[in-house]
Amino acid sequence: MPRIVAPSMLSADFGHLDRDTRMVDRSAAEWIHIDVMDGLFVPNISFGFPVLKAIRRASAKCLDVHLMIVDPERYAGRFVEAGADIVTFHYEAARDIPACIGSIRRAGARVGISVKPATPVEVLCDLLPSVDMVLVMSVEPGFGGQAFIPEALQKVADLRAMARQLGLETLIEVDGGISARNAGAIFAAGADVLVAGSSIFGAADPEAEIVRMLNA
Ligand code: DX5
Ligand code: ZN
Repeated sequence: MPRIVAPSMLSADFGHLDRDTRMVDRSAAEWIHIDVMDGLFVPNISFGFPVLKAIRRASAKCLDVHLMIVDPERYAGRFVEAGADIVTFHYEAARDIPACIGSIRRAGARVGISVKPATPVEVLCDLLPSVDMVLVMSVEPGFGGQAFIPEALQKVADLRAMARQLGLETLIEVDGGISARNAGAIFAAGADVLVAGSSIFGAADPEAEIVRMLNA
């Protein structure tokens, strides 16, 4: 499986969104991670459609939208129209998971489902064949800059085993507290995509930090 790094725009400088998006666009990162928060599912509010559209205009890369919102089935399709290539919603937030998956697929994007640190990956067993990706949260969703929760490594390994048993090539993404220091261990546990915000945008040379993560 190829390694992918997805810089999280939550840590970008919103006063220079175009500049920071173009930096990621020329970097070795294949995806751009976009965190949408509603102040209800998580105790923080980030941004919505206009910001996603601006990022879409500044980059041709895969836009990986992480919805931390209640009732994601209400809005998932609109995020695809605004430019998302992959839409991930939270297992804990959706009232009607099949409807949410259906609305993302009908709108033409790939589907991800995410679990918070306290949610066991076993709840996803029956859903695995109908999604393209699982996002394992390695911090409590809501804020950048938190410490990586090491139990996420076992969840990644368990998910990889579960997918293999079912004969699926489900992508596994991990999000929160990731830097070049722990990226190697997370890839080794079976992850395909690593999200990183503060470690990349806080680095003196963000493009070099992305390369360090890919080679970790
Ligand atoms: C947190 C978000 C993350 C966040 C990660 O709820 O889902 O994508 O941007 O930030 P860092 O890499 O700083 O932990
Ligand atoms: Zn995220």
